[in-house]
Amino acid sequence: MDDGGTSGKRLTFFMAKSTLSFVCQNCGAAYNRWQGKCDSCGEWNTLAEEDTTGATSMPVSVRSRRKGRTFALESLTGKSNDAPRLPSGMTELDRVTGGGFVRGSVLLVGGDPGIGKSTLLTQATSMLARAGHRAVYISGEEAVAQVRLRAERLGLADAPVQLAAETSVEDIVSTLSEGAVPRLIVIDSIQTMWTDTVESAPGTVTQVRASAQALIRFAKKTGAAIILVGHVTKDGQIAGPRVVEHMVDAVLSFEGEGSQHFRILRAMKNRFGPTDEIGVFEMTGLGLREVSNPSELFLSERDLGSPGTAVFAGIEGTRPVLVELQALVAPTTLGTPRRAVVGWDPSRLSMVLAVLEAHCGVKLSGYDVYLNVAGGLRIQEPAADLAAAAALVSSLVNAPLPTDAVYFGEISLSGAVRPVAQTSARLKEAAKLGFGRAVLPESARGEVGGDGGLALNSIGGLTSLVAEIAARGSPRGNRDTSREGAAEKNATPARFRRENS
Ligand code: TYD
Ligand code: MG
Repeated sequence: MDDGGTSGKRLTFFMAKSTLSFVCQNCGAAYNRWQGKCDSCGEWNTLAEEDTTGATSMPVSVRSRRKGRTFALESLTGKSNDAPRLPSGMTELDRVTGGGFVRGSVLLVGGDPGIGKSTLLTQATSMLARAGHRAVYISGEEAVAQVRLRAERLGLADAPVQLAAETSVEDIVSTLSEGAVPRLIVIDSIQTMWTDTVESAPGTVTQVRASAQALIRFAKKTGAAIILVGHVTKDGQIAGPRVVEHMVDAVLSFEGEGSQHFRILRAMKNRFGPTDEIGVFEMTGLGLREVSNPSELFLSERDLGSPGTAVFAGIEGTRPVLVELQALVAPTTLGTPRRAVVGWDPSRLSMVLAVLEAHCGVKLSGYDVYLNVAGGLRIQEPAADLAAAAALVSSLVNAPLPTDAVYFGEISLSGAVRPVAQTSARLKEAAKLGFGRAVLPESARGEVGGDGGLALNSIGGLTSLVAEIAARGSPRGNRDTSREGAAEKNATPARFRRENS
């Protein structure tokens, strides 16, 4: 967001007399008169009158002339405090936080209602409590009995978690200041908290911001790690002021398709760890189960032998993940054909389509194109280009791809297939899961090692891949695998046909 202060109406640093200004509750920008839309973040109806006396608006002469206290400056090397991280014992959660909760840090966990945030955090607090740490769970949404019921269902009722249903930040801070400092405090959710210091109702941005501030102060002061649960609005933003995201040390997002059991925990921001790692869970009748080998999960419901599906050998963070890409290319009835994509970057799809048209003679302008990443995973790597192209062409010519092949490689605008990082990790994972061959960039061959005996089919340009797939599609093409019989039997992408008929 633009906080640069380009707007002329924005207050910058000094305002002569008035001590009241209108502050955007979303981004914090201040104005000297009310307006409907915040110029800074573009949100509507977020300006509220605030008394900024003493903040920035007081004339310098009135401010205290106190001489500043001197403090010691330190060097970068030096003794750091003991064990700054506290692993939760849930490997997938620790992977995303970067090895555990950092002392004195505050983490925001966002996600749709019902996705499993409370379940995840009940499990995490119970694990810590069982390991002998003081873990506190404050629920502002559910009664103690409801939280107990969930714990019972999860088989965690015996864990010595300290539980309360409270919403007053002052009460919470006073209570937790007594006794040993808790190692982990879960606040479920930040939107239900309120503090006496501001007037507005609970759930308003001012309250959320002030409550978060008070809790963050408590965490920094005591060294307790705090997890704030945050609701997510329809457009995927964590509700409440954007500033809460800026205030906390890490923002994790818990995602998943409602109809599916997979849940993915992703770091959107992390001051103490990586942001590209994902944690994969499965929602079961007994709570969230950690999935240590996500490839198996993502490939478990594969549509073997259907045209339009290709397995992409990807990397998520430090871990190889195999996932199925599903494409449907169907004649359009619309003037402007549809391009819909779930789980991948729409502009990359447009690029791959353009390269197929321009360099490979694949005419797609008369077709609707749908691309879906199975299992609710969201791919960010350009390495998925080759798998997407293979799936698209396979659907167009109605020719299933070999079921034992994985694909990866970045496609350049010239139609060349470029090498991607971590070739051998991708190949190893594919071999481990029983794949027999890999279609990969030509120049990647040099760095291949320990590929587990995969047959490698290097591709220099997209044209040769298209020709190969098209040949499989022709009635008397050079078919070579014995799997083809099975493939032909269900040559209709049933999944898509149901959805789009
Ligand atoms: P919950 O953790 O309450 O979601 P959130 O806090 O994100 O709103 O999870 C609610 C859903 O999870 C609910 O639809 C039921 C399901 N669930 C299970 O399938 N198994 C379980 O063991 C538990 C506790 C919940
Ligand atoms: Mg909840």
